[in-house]
Amino acid sequence: MPPDNMAVRIEGSAIAAAVRAETRDAVQKWVRAGHRAPSLAVIIVGDNPASVSYVRSKVSASASAGIESKTLNKPESTREEIILQLVNTLNRSDNWDGILVQLPLPGHMHAARVLGALNPNKDVDGLHVINAGRLATGAPRLIPCTPAAIMELLHRTGIRIAGRHAVIVGRSNLVGKPLAHLLLIANATVTVCHSKTKDLAAVCRTADILVAAVGVPHLVTADMVKPGATVIDVGINRVGDSSKPRGYRLVGDVDYHAVEAVAGAITPVPGGVGPMTVAMLLRNTLLAAQLQ
Ligand code: GUN
Repeated sequence: MPPDNMAVRIEGSAIAAAVRAETRDAVQKWVRAGHRAPSLAVIIVGDNPASVSYVRSKVSASASAGIESKTLNKPESTREEIILQLVNTLNRSDNWDGILVQLPLPGHMHAARVLGALNPNKDVDGLHVINAGRLATGAPRLIPCTPAAIMELLHRTGIRIAGRHAVIVGRSNLVGKPLAHLLLIANATVTVCHSKTKDLAAVCRTADILVAAVGVPHLVTADMVKPGATVIDVGINRVGDSSKPRGYRLVGDVDYHAVEAVAGAITPVPGGVGPMTVAMLLRNTLLAAQLQ
């Protein structure tokens, strides 16, 4: 138990391990019922080190859940048309249930066009407009993995959502917007903040559930948190640190050590939302297999 005045640490890694084990069991059941193993094709364009590392964890987690996967690495200079052709081939193939296009794409590509080319029932990231629209109208099917991860962490930690005020900092299509819809479906009152929000600290202090998803190291400080609030940190920021073997360390969007003295519960970075996001991808891949 933490000391009385310290937040409960939401152990994303442990909860993710449980979800991965459940998914592995569900995959085995699916295969025993006579289906081939669910499969995931991951497209990565360029060699952004963070993206390469995320893709590696996705592929290795897939294998441990009994999901077949392949990574298609394309050089940074690849023309968008080539990626669209690749997506079309995977859409038509009976061998691949899930397709994931790792973001960000190089500047010369239009992410919306590439994501829009995906078969919505193979879109394991839930980023196609059809999947975004389904979620926005309260009928979700494949939902983005990070917001799904946050909801699962809240549910499995027993944090009440209905009737509470959730404040999301960040309005991305990947996290902020889909999370707002999921929290609304769960009957929270939702505020979405962004770079033009006036007096961000004052708005954050009204949150029962505060989610930081902007990619700014330690943006959320202790004075922005209501005592007892649940704080979810989506940021994974690389900060230069010559004392570390890789020359950097990972820090979140929340100043963890200051905020844990005020919050009621908090996710760490690393070991919070990140591992849970990968677990939700596995679950989405099984769902995509069932949808084919
Ligand atoms: N880049 C950072 N996070 C994500 C994610 O969840 N999905 C994809 N496709 N790209 C990302």
